[in-house]
Amino acid sequence: MDYTLKFLKERIEEKLLELIPENSAPEIKEAMKYSLAAGGKRLRPLLLLSSLIYLNKNPLNFLEPACGLEFIHTYSLIHDDLPSMDNDTLRRGMPTCHIKFGEAIAILAGDSLLTHSFYIFSKYPENLSSEIKRRAVEMVSKAIGPEGLVAGQVMDLKKVEKEEDLILMHSLKTGKLIKLSCQLAGLYSEAREEEFQVLNNFGENFGILFQIVDDLLDELCTAEEMGKSPGKDKAQGKLTAYSLWGIEGSLKKIEDLKEKIFQKLSKNNEGSQLLMEIVQKTLSKVYDKIKK
Ligand code: IPE
Ligand code: IPE
Ligand code: MG
Ligand code: MG
Ligand code: MG
Repeated sequence: MDYTLKFLKERIEEKLLELIPENSAPEIKEAMKYSLAAGGKRLRPLLLLSSLIYLNKNPLNFLEPACGLEFIHTYSLIHDDLPSMDNDTLRRGMPTCHIKFGEAIAILAGDSLLTHSFYIFSKYPENLSSEIKRRAVEMVSKAIGPEGLVAGQVMDLKKVEKEEDLILMHSLKTGKLIKLSCQLAGLYSEAREEEFQVLNNFGENFGILFQIVDDLLDELCTAEEMGKSPGKDKAQGKLTAYSLWGIEGSLKKIEDLKEKIFQKLSKNNEGSQLLMEIVQKTLSKVYDKIKK
C-alpha cells in the first residue's frame, strides 16, 4: 500500500481523542481534549508510523502507541507553557491550557496525559507480547523522565551558556522523545541491529535538527505562522541556535545533520521516503522564511 503523511495523520486524528479515558474527571477531560484537539503537526506519531513502514510493518496496527507519543508531547507542551516555565499564552493557535482553564487544571491535565500514556503503552498493540510492551514502557520512561526530556527542560530553565550544553539540552528536551518515536518502531518490529541503528541515527540527528529549526522559527516567524508567541527565547534571554550560531551558522549545522541522516537512510523504500519527507517539511519552514 502507498502511504502518505496526510493519510497517516488523518488516522492519528481519528484515534487520538478516542483514547481519552471515558470516566476522566470532567474538567480534566475537557482540558485534555482542548489541548490535544488544538492541532499540531503530529510529528512524533508520524515518525513512529513511518519508521514502522520502513521496517515493513503495517502502521495501522500501531495507532494507539503513536497517539501515546502525542499524549506525552502534549503534556510536555502544557507544562512548558506554564507561568513557572516559559509563561506562554498561545499554543497551536489557541490560548494555552492554563490561560483557558487555570494553572491547577492545566497541571493536572498534563499529569493525566502523561500518566495515561503509560496505560496506552502497556496495553497496545493488543496482539504484541507482554514482554515487548514492558520494554516499551521501560524505553518511554527512560526517554522522558529525569535523565531525558525532564533533564533537558531543567537545563533550559537554568539557561545554558556553552555550545556543548546547548546541543545536549536540544538532544534531551526535544531529541529524546523524537528518537524514542523511531526506536519504538525497532522494538515493535523486533528489528535487526543494523536496522535499529539506522533508526537510532535518524532519531538522534533529526531530534537536534528539529530543535534548531524551532529556535530559528521563534526568531523569524509571526504568531500567526507558528501558532505560538514569537521572540520568546530572546525575551527570556535564552541561549538558542539563533543567538549562538545566527542564521547562517544554524543552517550549516542543519545541513550537516541532514547529511548524517540521509547517509544512513539509504534503503530506498516507502518508509525512508516518508522519513525524508518529514525532514524536508521541517527544513522548508526555515528555507521558505529566509527566501521571503
Ligand atoms: C514544539 O513541538 C515543541 C518542541 C519540542 C520544539 P512541535 O513543533 O512538534 O509542536 P506541535 O505539536 O506541532 O504543536
Ligand atoms: C519545548 O521547547 C520542549 C518541550 C516541550 C519538552 P520550547 O520551549 O522551545 O518549545 P516551544 O517553542 O515553546 O514550542
Ligand atoms: Mg521551553
Ligand atoms: Mg516553550
Ligand atoms: Mg521554542
